[in-house]
Amino acid sequence: MNPTPIRVLFVCLGNICRSPMAEGLFRHLVAQQGLSDRIVADSAGTSSYHIGELPDARTCQTTQRRNIELTHRARQFSAKDFQDFDYILAADQNNLKHILRLKNQNYPHCHVHLLRDFDPQVIEASAEVPDPYYGTMKDFEEVFTILERSCSALLTHIRKAESW
Ligand code: 4NP
Repeated sequence: MNPTPIRVLFVCLGNICRSPMAEGLFRHLVAQQGLSDRIVADSAGTSSYHIGELPDARTCQTTQRRNIELTHRARQFSAKDFQDFDYILAADQNNLKHILRLKNQNYPHCHVHLLRDFDPQVIEASAEVPDPYYGTMKDFEEVFTILERSCSALLTHIRKAESW
């Protein structure tokens, strides 16, 4: 029998741009490495603005170019997610603050980080995934590039931590 999978949650503000893109990309990387039965991914937003919606059309366009389909429906982050996930990755500082405000007890299994803490091209601490919502397709492409580096390094980190 397979052990309980590692559960990874990506969090941004609206859950229609950065975090569903990260979720889809991360799942794609996990599948490429043959780990789909060992790692599961999800995403959520700190706001309630877009609950139930599919990702932004520009998010879908960006991932479809790489044959990554997004079917996620936006949902809001809640304190229950600390029980349900082993890694919670925030896109920016505001998301991280929101997540930590809801953390009202210790969850020893749950690791909360800024996603770009894993980005090998980041030199200074506290780098953010920039919000592309009011931007152009170029901003969405830039987000994808940042997420590629960060998600790939996150997966390596998890594999090391799990000794796989
Ligand atoms: P996300 O982008 O947090 O990456 O999903 C945003 C989506 C929607 C809004 C802001 C950011 N909004 O204000 O509706």
